[in-house]
Amino acid sequence: LGLKRLVRRAVRGLGYEILKVPPAAARPRVEGPPPVEPVWPLPRRLGGMSDSEIRAAFRDFPHWHYAYVFEGGLGFETAHVNPGLDTDDPVRPLQRFRHFMPWLVQAAGGSLRGKRVLDIACNSGFWSIQCALLGADVVGFDARPELIAQAELIKRITGVSTAEFRVLDFEDLRPETFGGAFDIVLNLGLLYHLPDPLGALATTATMARELVLLDTAVFPSEDAFVRLKWEAPFDIRMAAREGIAAEPSKRAVELMLRHLGLTEVVEIPVRSDDLPSVYRRGQRASWLIRV
Ligand SMILES: C[S@@+](CC[C@H](N)C(=O)[O-])C[C@H]1O[C@@H](n2cnc3c(N)ncnc32)[C@H](O)[C@@H]1O
Repeated sequence: LGLKRLVRRAVRGLGYEILKVPPAAARPRVEGPPPVEPVWPLPRRLGGMSDSEIRAAFRDFPHWHYAYVFEGGLGFETAHVNPGLDTDDPVRPLQRFRHFMPWLVQAAGGSLRGKRVLDIACNSGFWSIQCALLGADVVGFDARPELIAQAELIKRITGVSTAEFRVLDFEDLRPETFGGAFDIVLNLGLLYHLPDPLGALATTATMARELVLLDTAVFPSEDAFVRLKWEAPFDIRMAAREGIAAEPSKRAVELMLRHLGLTEVVEIPVRSDDLPSVYRRGQRASWLIRV
């Protein structure tokens, strides 16, 4: 024990933390909703863009957050300014989908058909397009115009007609921006890029009539911490503007939700090893919130 403590202290002194990753066998078995599969590869509109037209349109953008694959074996890689992180793994969005979307679909009554969905910080529209393919009417927005242009391209290729995209900064989001609240609000991969997580969660909740799906990086601590860092907007996965980015711990997220009066909250359990390691290491978590 003494040795463990010494090693942990020495590692802490270097600015790192040792985290235990529970092996799959050690995790309690949790009953969950029935699986929901992403629509993948993405469909292509009949008589739509040809392979070479799609390839040329993809080349117009130097950076891509998702590795899109379309029917007919046409696939693309991610492209980030700082490549090599686990966000470049092409299966990452599919793993995240299988992790949290079944919980959302179950809570929505077994289907997203006819639901009005808001996709906050939609990037190039991966989640918006998936929700639209599951039958929802979707509005996605992102602060970066080039990402909304990408989302429009994916919409054009797939022929999905029930997703709309807008350039908007989260700071400017109000219920009246899109003519009222939505049945379901997705707040995925954004919270830890913003300076004020409590305010961001409050805004997110006011946009929702039924459900919020929250997915965020979390500071790995048992305590209710918020770690502040400075973030520059050098890549399409980062904050849209330079400034403070605040990363809460799980406990801090839970306290914030409670502070906002949101008590019907389920943390989506890690039930599979087929997930980005950040979820298995407790450095990322997802919640389903009934407002
Ligand atoms: C890590 S990506 C997450 C993309 C997607 N929601 C997901 O979870 O897969 C972060 C996204 O947030 C967007 N973003 C950052 N700051 C924003 C802001 N203030 N308003 C709107 N979008 C923002 C970025 O442009 C980027 O698309």
